[in-house]
Amino acid sequence: MTNKTPLKNQRRAFTLPSGKTFLNCAYLSPLPKEVEKAGINGILAKQNPFQISQRDFFQTADEVRIAFSETIGNADPHRVVIIPSVSYGLANVARNIKLRKGEEVLVAEAQFPSNIYPWKRLVQEQGGILKTVKAPATHHSRGKLWNEQILDAISYKTRVVALGHVHWTDGTLFDLKAIRQKADQTGALLIIDGTQSVGALPFDVNEIRPDALICAGYKWLLGPYGIGVAYYGQAFDNGTPIEENWINRKNSEDFTGLVNYQDNYQPGALRYEVGEHSNFILLPMLLAALRLVNRWSPASIQEYCHKINVRPLAELQQHGWWVEEESFRAQHLFGIRPPQGVSLQAARQLIQAAGISVSFRGDAIRVAPHVYNSEKELFHLVRLLIQSSGS
Ligand SMILES: Cc1ncc(COP(=O)(O)O)c(C=O)c1O
Repeated sequence: MTNKTPLKNQRRAFTLPSGKTFLNCAYLSPLPKEVEKAGINGILAKQNPFQISQRDFFQTADEVRIAFSETIGNADPHRVVIIPSVSYGLANVARNIKLRKGEEVLVAEAQFPSNIYPWKRLVQEQGGILKTVKAPATHHSRGKLWNEQILDAISYKTRVVALGHVHWTDGTLFDLKAIRQKADQTGALLIIDGTQSVGALPFDVNEIRPDALICAGYKWLLGPYGIGVAYYGQAFDNGTPIEENWINRKNSEDFTGLVNYQDNYQPGALRYEVGEHSNFILLPMLLAALRLVNRWSPASIQEYCHKINVRPLAELQQHGWWVEEESFRAQHLFGIRPPQGVSLQAARQLIQAAGISVSFRGDAIRVAPHVYNSEKELFHLVRLLIQSSGS
């Protein structure tokens, strides 16, 4: 996967409590120590406003653009903007799409609500159709079939394909390269919610060519809650943002001339950036987090997660538990389903009593390891599951 030196366990970079096993980065990441430090420095800076210059309103944001561009292989940092949430980033997308009557927005079943509600509103307001591609009701080649059905569902009526790179509940991997190709053939936009993948799974904007990529910062980007990043491609150049704030306008760097009101915006996609994005606490934290992710590299993180899960998952599968086949699931986020007829109730109790944090999403246990986890922790989880199903 990568030619870098393989990553070793990085638990020391975090302040996780001993005696507990956190396998739940898809819920919230723990804060790396260096991100925590950046936040404390941000708080302290505002003790004394002499320490915050006009340049600081722009500089950290620009550094975040550069750091996130590195994460996703983007050559133009002006395409990256700071957002407070995925719903905000997607509201800007939906605001700038015009549907003809009967045109479709295509989504996968049980997608995260922030990547559904904007489309529901759009189709309601503009006479479009929200088309949901259901998860195949089988455990056999489920991911492969789901991908095939998504490709088949893209037609000349499809205006937007809105997906994640992985499904947030069970890590099913969507083949965005193939989906992009099909969308190119039919002229659909590709809008990606990268919240559950970018940072831990390589994503290259040159390869996938999304029209927009929206990411919350508090999961796989290892940042704080309340700040994220979005990339907007050329399809959204010259669009209308959902809010009009001063700092996104041309020449906003000139604080003495702010009431020389400007019709023009800052370059690229900067018109879509949230007001007060200069946030002197959250922004330095996000920057520290992105730099750490880039240092470790998503490819190495993915490889590390693979290394620690491969043997435990093989043992689990031998006992009749279901995990998606490897080529159609992520290594950092995967769903585990019990053998037929086994409820998750007993597993839930055992997991809780053992101080292990995972999530229960739909009918799957969602396991989301990161570089602070170990193979030993995954074996512990897996053996409790096997015990719970009495197999
Ligand atoms: C796939 C996905 N997208 C988005 C979000 C968060 O959305 P928002 O930032 O709008 O709260 C989550 C949170 O769990 C998620 O799993």
